[in-house]
Amino acid sequence: MPQSVRSARRPEPRAPSSRRAPPATTPRHPEGQEPWSPTSWRGRPLAQEVAYDDAAALERAVEQLRALPPLVTSWEVERLRQHIAEAQRGERFVLQGGDCAEMLTECRPEIIANKLKILLQMSLVLVQGSLKPIVRIGRMAGQYAKPRSKPLETRPGPDGQPLTLPSYFGDLVNRAEFSAEARRADPQLLLAGYQHAALTLNFIRSLSEGGFADLHHPEQWDLEFLDRADLSEETQADYRLASTRLVEALRFMEAIGETSVAELTRIEFFTSHEGLNLHYESAQTRNVPRRPGWYDLTTHMPWIGERTRQLDGAHVEFFRGVQNPVGVKIGPSTAPDDVLRLLERLNPEGEEGKIILIARMGVKRVREALPTLAEAVGREGTPVLWMCDPMHGNTVSTSSGLKTRDFDDILGEIEHSFDIHEAAGGHLGGVHFELTGEDVTECIGGGLSENDLDRNYATECDPRLNYRQALEMAFCVADRMRPRGSLPRRLL
Ligand code: PEP
Ligand code: CO
Repeated sequence: MPQSVRSARRPEPRAPSSRRAPPATTPRHPEGQEPWSPTSWRGRPLAQEVAYDDAAALERAVEQLRALPPLVTSWEVERLRQHIAEAQRGERFVLQGGDCAEMLTECRPEIIANKLKILLQMSLVLVQGSLKPIVRIGRMAGQYAKPRSKPLETRPGPDGQPLTLPSYFGDLVNRAEFSAEARRADPQLLLAGYQHAALTLNFIRSLSEGGFADLHHPEQWDLEFLDRADLSEETQADYRLASTRLVEALRFMEAIGETSVAELTRIEFFTSHEGLNLHYESAQTRNVPRRPGWYDLTTHMPWIGERTRQLDGAHVEFFRGVQNPVGVKIGPSTAPDDVLRLLERLNPEGEEGKIILIARMGVKRVREALPTLAEAVGREGTPVLWMCDPMHGNTVSTSSGLKTRDFDDILGEIEHSFDIHEAAGGHLGGVHFELTGEDVTECIGGGLSENDLDRNYATECDPRLNYRQALEMAFCVADRMRPRGSLPRRLL
């Protein structure tokens, strides 16, 4: 296995951070690996392949996409890589969150702003628990493609007879409505997805440049939220205290002449999505002037999903060649050797800031599944950032058939993950949530019971934490991260 090759090439496990090798002009091709190009994935088995019925129309759409400007820049991608490298060393903590599936129809100012607000609020809470800078990454501006466990779906048709149609694969591919026309894979949606991602990003960028994201005025992120009656008084009071303390700390640093305060007060926000549709990803993957290597410029941080991370599959082939930091979802049946081989394939030089392992085990299985993986990766010594996605292993169905998740299971998986990584000699470096800034009723807990779910169950895909649940979750995670021996949040 690659393990012996690895150890021969890199004899010092856990070597210091300066080891990061500069990227080559073209991606490296370790023994046994074919040369890489943005289209070399086309020769590999493609899991979750979309059945486009008009190959010429698909090629035309991809060509158009190729000619359009990038959505993000290589220097932003490199900056995120540096942050991820620091998080790998325990110097930062990552908060990643957003919808399970973004919808084109939800590309609306209040929805985007509310999602940004809840992520900013959560980061403000987390910074005071972790005492580390928080890297904020949205599942935003491109989270339009969804893997499905079943390619087809059967429902009663207009005549009452069972009708079988392709499943809904996200707005980048087809539409959720249950009709033959809506469920047809439409290559034009690749362009519509790109355009809506651009509109979303444009708005996020404007908001984060302006007063909205000025850390001196965190009240801009919240008033409307915090005054809503269904946020518990305790959470409101805790949040107000947290933001007041932040403003005081900034003023103090300015008063003592801290020069880097301007840097500190600028909000950075990165985007991510599952890199599922390789037509979309590869069309926007390019070389940039004066920087070696290839960048997937649809997003800062693409990730490979649990269903598409086959070692010899198209997705691993594609993402081994890009400079972006790349996430890999890791489910409970993953063997340690699977992870080591993936790391070898995706990051053969053991570069820093490159790989984020996003474990999604479920609260019931995390204690049996995660320790051996964490230990094996730790022994191997290759730098990774371990994150916890406590959503995808904790999905259950109610008696009426709604998919939901319980706040306590979500928190439980995170708490176990902190313990497991500590016991393995590493650390949990980030959390990954499906959440929204809206008052939806999709997850149980934090004030909602199963009977409340019908009130505003709005997701087309997986259940999301609403703004109240998300903020309370941030407080719970912050409490868990507070350095031992420090006062609990209420007494600070
Ligand atoms: C997701 O993140 O929405 C998802 C489908 O996750 P996973 O690949 O872990 O199942
Ligand atoms: Co999901």
